[in-house]
Amino acid sequence: MRKSIFIMFLFLAGKNVAQEQSLFKETYRPQYHFSPAKNWTNDPNGLVYYGGVYHLFFQHNPFGNEWGHMSWGHATSKDLMHWKELPVAIAEENGVAIFSGSAVVDKNNSTGFSTQPDQQSLVAIYTAHTEKLQTQALAFSNDKGLTWKKYKGNPVLDLHKKDFRDPNVFWYEAGKKWVMAVSQPIEHQISFYSSNNLKEWKLLSNFGPAGDLSGVWECPDLMQVPIEGEPGKTKWVLFTSQNSTMQYFVGEFDGTKFIEDKPQTKIHKQDYGTDYYAAVTYHNSPDKQPISIGWVNNWEYANTIPTKPWKSAMSLPRKLSVKKRGDDWVLIQHPLSTLEELRLKKEAISNNSVSKEYDLFQKGNCFEMSFDMIPAKNAVGGIKIAVGNGHYFEIGYDAAREKLFIDRSNTNHSFNSKYASINRKEADLKMYTGMIRLHIYFDESIVEIYTADGTVVFTSQVFPDKSENGMQFYSNGSEIRYENVRYWKMKSTWF
Ligand code: FRU
Repeated sequence: MRKSIFIMFLFLAGKNVAQEQSLFKETYRPQYHFSPAKNWTNDPNGLVYYGGVYHLFFQHNPFGNEWGHMSWGHATSKDLMHWKELPVAIAEENGVAIFSGSAVVDKNNSTGFSTQPDQQSLVAIYTAHTEKLQTQALAFSNDKGLTWKKYKGNPVLDLHKKDFRDPNVFWYEAGKKWVMAVSQPIEHQISFYSSNNLKEWKLLSNFGPAGDLSGVWECPDLMQVPIEGEPGKTKWVLFTSQNSTMQYFVGEFDGTKFIEDKPQTKIHKQDYGTDYYAAVTYHNSPDKQPISIGWVNNWEYANTIPTKPWKSAMSLPRKLSVKKRGDDWVLIQHPLSTLEELRLKKEAISNNSVSKEYDLFQKGNCFEMSFDMIPAKNAVGGIKIAVGNGHYFEIGYDAAREKLFIDRSNTNHSFNSKYASINRKEADLKMYTGMIRLHIYFDESIVEIYTADGTVVFTSQVFPDKSENGMQFYSNGSEIRYENVRYWKMKSTWF
């Protein structure tokens, strides 16, 4: 008996060591996108630069690989590429879940949470969630985000509503006050509140309904975004998440109301892919440059994606700016240029004209690539990645219709019929300069595509086997010319 217990112990200990050793080497595991070592994550929360590091809190189930027991997980990074996961920061307690929210540095100790003269508390403003009620609540940390206490006076904002969530707070310097944007999901409204101490809040105004009303509004974010090419000038941009996509409004915030410059009939999408949601931006960043991170998944099938022991990841951090096109403002997004440090040796790929198929010799699903495509009038084609076993993920341009598209119909989608049905997405893309310049980041199960100077972005998940790792330029019979092809395999940020 004793002996069998001892053998069992050895077996389990061995199993644990084996599991630890294979961590971050699992099939589908992103190598340069953040994901928690184990268990479920959704929205990024409380993005704040503090104490020399970027903090990334995230919706997290510490006990399982599906949504539940929502708490704030925690990771930090010096460069927004290499992350160190820390213990759970704010945990579900007594059946009250910790839903999404933001974090601020309380520089003037407006809350009185700081106990030492030179200490600046980090304060999290989150939604306290139960089945019947969502209220806004505070927690604070006086040790650089490592340990947190919930404020005894919680909730700080209670409308006695079942749906009222995702507070995003920032310091409004012009009015010397805190401002909160918080969602009234069902009403499709963002409410703005102000406060002097983060504890008492006064309603300022509501924005909405507007734009995309196809799903409940969640995770608002309001911030000043630089205008490209006009140093020192900014516009106010308001983001909301709904129906597994995001939208933005560009306008002005006068300390009380957000007013869209020119109310749009067209919906402005932040990302055209299948898997980008709940993105928010960093507070207190050293250069005041807004940097956003989104959740790479889709509520339609999020719990069923075939990854373990973790589920879901964060997008690449993106630098935001805006520019005017005609009489319309458009959002520009670019990954941080420091990402170039992860490039391995550049691999040359010569210029090519393709009217059917051209196999590239490069193999692997962890790379960065860019190229220009000059399509003939009726060409439909582009690049297939994750090619193998009859499977591939298409990134294509339809020249006659002037649309960029992604298509994952021919990838492994057996795990979920909803995932299988959401297989194609497209965006308008005019060929102003006679060519399409694509910049592609592929990271095992995440594809991010940037084009049109960062004004059109797609983020999508795909789950290829390790052996499905080829690449092919392709076209429908009309010629496409490929120029300036650049390709780098990427270093893992985990090893
Ligand atoms: C958005 C969201 C938020 C909520 C959180 C719960 O993805 O539904 O509205 O706070 O996720 O995990």
